Amino acid sequence: MTGISELLLSRIRDVQDYPEPGVVFKDITPLLADPAAFTALTDSLAEFTVRHGATKVVGLEARGFILGAPVAVRAGVGFIPVRKAGKLPGATLSQAYALEYGTAEIEVHAEDLSPGDRVMVIDDVLATGGTAEASLSLIRRAGAQVAGVAVLMELGFLDGRARLEAALDGAPLEALIKV
Ligand code: PRP
Ligand code: MG
Repeated sequence: MTGISELLLSRIRDVQDYPEPGVVFKDITPLLADPAAFTALTDSLAEFTVRHGATKVVGLEARGFILGAPVAVRAGVGFIPVRKAGKLPGATLSQAYALEYGTAEIEVHAEDLSPGDRVMVIDDVLATGGTAEASLSLIRRAGAQVAGVAVLMELGFLDGRARLEAALDGAPLEALIKV
């Protein structure tokens, strides 16, 4: 791992058996509370966003908002929230996706993305890849291009990278930490 990856990893707390027995939750709140680490994370994701020519950043509710908003400001592009269903007041595009048990649904304001936009998706964790995959569907259905997906951390054992491969269609997937 690089120096920045080690710094970031050192600020992520493993919480055993949360939210249910057998799960190790990756708590990013110590990283957010450390200005040096949060700045290094923001700068790194913003550099990736600029390098791949993004014109918009999409953040995935909720933790993707915390990371995506400063990345958009740092990269000098607009921030678009992709929200859990029922939270956006205007005309939306919706995308349902499968969870381990049941389904979830995310939405974006249709007017926020247009043909000609190149969109970087930002989130904290890539786990099964279901949330990110659904966001890529929203972006494409809005007529925009996918510039890439960038996350703080990829949980390799859940193989989200493989699930995302078709939806990425050649666009890059960046993970600053892989566990
Ligand atoms: C978590 C995490 C990612 C997503 C990854 O969000 O922040 O967004 O799960 O899982 P996946 O790759 O299997 O889709 P969650 O909705 O649980 O919580 P949050 O609202 O705190 O971001
Ligand atoms: Mg999330």
